[in-house]
Amino acid sequence: QRIPVICVDGPTASGKGTLAAELAHRLGYHYLDSGALYRITAYAAIRAGLQPEPAHEAAIAGMAATLAVRFSGGRVLLDELDVTDAIRTEEAGMNASRVSALPAVRTALVALQHSFRRLPGLVADGRDMGTVIFPGATLKVYLTASAAQRAERRHKQLISKGISATLPALRADLEARDARDSSREVAPLKPADDALLLDNSGQTVEESVSQVLQWWNGKQ
Ligand code: C5P
Repeated sequence: QRIPVICVDGPTASGKGTLAAELAHRLGYHYLDSGALYRITAYAAIRAGLQPEPAHEAAIAGMAATLAVRFSGGRVLLDELDVTDAIRTEEAGMNASRVSALPAVRTALVALQHSFRRLPGLVADGRDMGTVIFPGATLKVYLTASAAQRAERRHKQLISKGISATLPALRADLEARDARDSSREVAPLKPADDALLLDNSGQTVEESVSQVLQWWNGKQ
């Protein structure tokens, strides 16, 4: 039986995670946060004393292939250690972006990502869900929002967690991350040819969810 997949790709802080998790919830589907896998890999590498750079590519890929990771009740466990908050910092995001530019690391994470495709279906968010990991997905959404909006959302998120941050620094950070993610050789950030584009600047989460569900229903 074909297991349905909805891909939500897009740049940093475009709201992919919120949209994808809500879609998964409404449809009763599994949810894959592929960015978390790169964040966890980077965290594990640095913990082992390996900077995310080409000199350590093989060693980090080895770690990625054997990650002891578990997603449980909204928490992320690495080797049974709760790393949920540690992998969400801006620094962790930047390290994830560096790790994700190493081709062997991307290859090492393919099987793990495919294993999330289980009945009754999957919603997967990331940068290359529709282009590389699930090219035959039933529906591919490419989510964008202006850099100003994305920086503002990230700012609110961090402040609500009690983490201090300034808007200009956040915007510079996310633009640097997007530039690296879009220009890398392997699986660069770009819409799949058959992706539907959704610019959610000025949209509420509910409006984005409704739009995608409408597309989804059109595919049934
Ligand atoms: O989505 P999130 O910000 O958690 O992703 C962290 C980093 O992991 C991204 O900046 C990107 O470099 C990388 N990533 C990727 N491919 C994915 C998901 C994330 O390269 N499918």
